[in-house]
Amino acid sequence: MKKKDISSRRDFLKIAAIGTAALGLGSVSNVFASSSDPAIKESIPSFGFENEEPTGNQSVMGLACEPLDKVRIAIIGIGMRGSEAVERLLQIEGVQLTVLCDLVPDFVKKANQKIQEAGHPAAAIYTGIDDWMKICEREDVDLVYNCTPWDLHTPIAVYAMKHGKHAAIEVPAAISIEECWQLVNTSEETRRHCMMLENCCYDFFELATLNMARQGVFGEILHAEGAYIHDLREWKFLELKDGGYYNHWRLEFSKKHNGNLYPTHGLGPIAQIMGINRGDRFDYLTSMSTKQAGISLYAAQKFGPDSPEAHQTYLLGDMNTTLIRTVNGRTLKIQHDTTSPRPYDRIHLISGTKGMARKYPQQAIALEPSSERFMKPEELDALLQKYEHPLARQIGEKARLVGGHGGMDYIMDYRLIYCLRKGLPLDQDVYDAAAWSSIVYLSEKSVTDKSNSVRVPDFTRGAWVSAAPWPVVEIE
Ligand SMILES: NC(=O)c1ccc[n+]([C@@H]2O[C@H](COP(=O)([O-])OP(=O)(O)OC[C@H]3O[C@@H](n4cnc5c(N)ncnc54)[C@H](O)[C@@H]3O)[C@@H](O)[C@H]2O)c1
Repeated sequence: MKKKDISSRRDFLKIAAIGTAALGLGSVSNVFASSSDPAIKESIPSFGFENEEPTGNQSVMGLACEPLDKVRIAIIGIGMRGSEAVERLLQIEGVQLTVLCDLVPDFVKKANQKIQEAGHPAAAIYTGIDDWMKICEREDVDLVYNCTPWDLHTPIAVYAMKHGKHAAIEVPAAISIEECWQLVNTSEETRRHCMMLENCCYDFFELATLNMARQGVFGEILHAEGAYIHDLREWKFLELKDGGYYNHWRLEFSKKHNGNLYPTHGLGPIAQIMGINRGDRFDYLTSMSTKQAGISLYAAQKFGPDSPEAHQTYLLGDMNTTLIRTVNGRTLKIQHDTTSPRPYDRIHLISGTKGMARKYPQQAIALEPSSERFMKPEELDALLQKYEHPLARQIGEKARLVGGHGGMDYIMDYRLIYCLRKGLPLDQDVYDAAAWSSIVYLSEKSVTDKSNSVRVPDFTRGAWVSAAPWPVVEIE
């Protein structure tokens, strides 16, 4: 798609809508609609299964691209997450931050200062709402690193890949099935990487349990649980100037949607461990939400019972529970709760024929022949040391120093840059991005249909059957 064809982001979305309509997928405009919108209900039969048919494009399972001596990165969205990414990426060899973009000029300015303080040349800066298009069209960018709000993830990634760039997208990568297919189809057409930045896959306990799983410690894994339980009530109402989200984007989703809006932190690590899209795949899911209570209660307490915030309708049920069954007869339970007064929790539970592990509220493992009790602290320490993942051993110390959720963010970025520079396949591919993100839309489908089960499309179009699970990777 050439620049002169598109004068604004709105035009691009229009063109994308025409493209998907031609594929029988309905309009992308329902991405931004609420679940009570009749447009969504009308599109219920179209889950994108027609896309499972071969397109003639080659699969990107195991895609390796030309090695890059230096990875020239454009960061779009320099709010809370993007500004942290700038700091982390500056500490990785072979990275050049060539472009920065945010609607808030001050965020861009501060990030550019950090780049120069680190001894790098200043980045080109952009602050316009559609400037991400100009950035994707630039010659001096290899990777578009996208930390914008959810509704911009897929449009920017698709446009970036169409202009020859690799795309790294914050979580979730997509918020509709149409968007999931757009990512898959564009990555396959353009042979560009599209990685969702699921950092929780690189946390230390998650990596250790992956290593244990690959070595058969848990036997056959039949069930796993993950979650995003994080009390964000205060954050959702904060103003931007006080460190809140841009335009209260997260609160806006809580007003209009009811399902698991943020599944991938809990789901990514267990999906990798279970070899989802590589030997097994999601088959169908059923999802149920509690009623909404906590946001209204919080709003009434904070702004007064007669305030617009307290009178506002919020569709998002406080707790959403989604159960997924795989084709090979295994189950995953994923929860989402950003409202209840509870400690942070991603659960990370793995249950197999020889034992189990659980991360929260504190790390615990039980294995045969003593599986009736959790290991004593010294036994657990010895086991975790024995199965420490090579990435944790090799760059864990530096990662803990750099930080970013205790170091996992740095390990993720490091691996991304390492693989791009070596021309290796990435740890998470577009099929992971699509399958894990599809839960956002499909959970809402099930919730709005009295928890009836909903099929999950096979985004790999059959490649999952022969693909090998993500191995225990190392760096040199
Ligand atoms: N992986 C994680 O641990 C993690 C943690 C927090 C947030 N996130 C994800 O990161 C993303 C950003 O979250 P956040 O907390 O930083 O939100 P934020 O609101 O702080 O930042 C988003 C930024 O995007 C900018 N933006 C909006 N529209 C833009 C446009 N058209 N062009 C350029 N910039 C634009 C805003 O000005 C804002 O600064 C979200 O997708 C979120 O889910 C991931």
